[in-house]
Amino acid sequence: MILEIRTAGDPVLKKIAVEVTKVDKRLRKLLDDMAETMYATEGVGIAAPQVGQSIRAVVVDVDHERYDLINPVITYSEGSAIDTEGCLSCPELFGEVERAEKIRVEYTTRFNKRKSLEADGLLARCIQHEVDHLNGRLFIDIAKNITKGKPEKV
Ligand code: CO
Repeated sequence: MILEIRTAGDPVLKKIAVEVTKVDKRLRKLLDDMAETMYATEGVGIAAPQVGQSIRAVVVDVDHERYDLINPVITYSEGSAIDTEGCLSCPELFGEVERAEKIRVEYTTRFNKRKSLEADGLLARCIQHEVDHLNGRLFIDIAKNITKGKPEKV
């Protein structure tokens, strides 16, 4: 089921999302709906607050591999990189964001196993962007050179 995306200005996007305490069928259905919504809008990541649920759950897929990250915690980060980002909650807006280049994230899977993932490049960027959503932060709060419409690459 495709869910309605909340956009900047909606108070749910500013809230600190709460920890997920129960990994059950209902949560898995929400994750599947979030994934469907993300794929339908050609996004590479989506966080639960973006669909109005203030809980710590995100779905990312940057390279045809989907990760459902429940209660994600970035436990290590290294380096820094600047690249252009956009967000389903900020239609048309793009901006340059500095992020760690490499991260490790610990998370709970949709089947309630605690796991760890090392990521770099776009996947690392995407996870950091989504974890920011769980902390009430949008990329436009930290981006530089925000433009309406995708900027030309030089
Ligand atoms: Co976003």
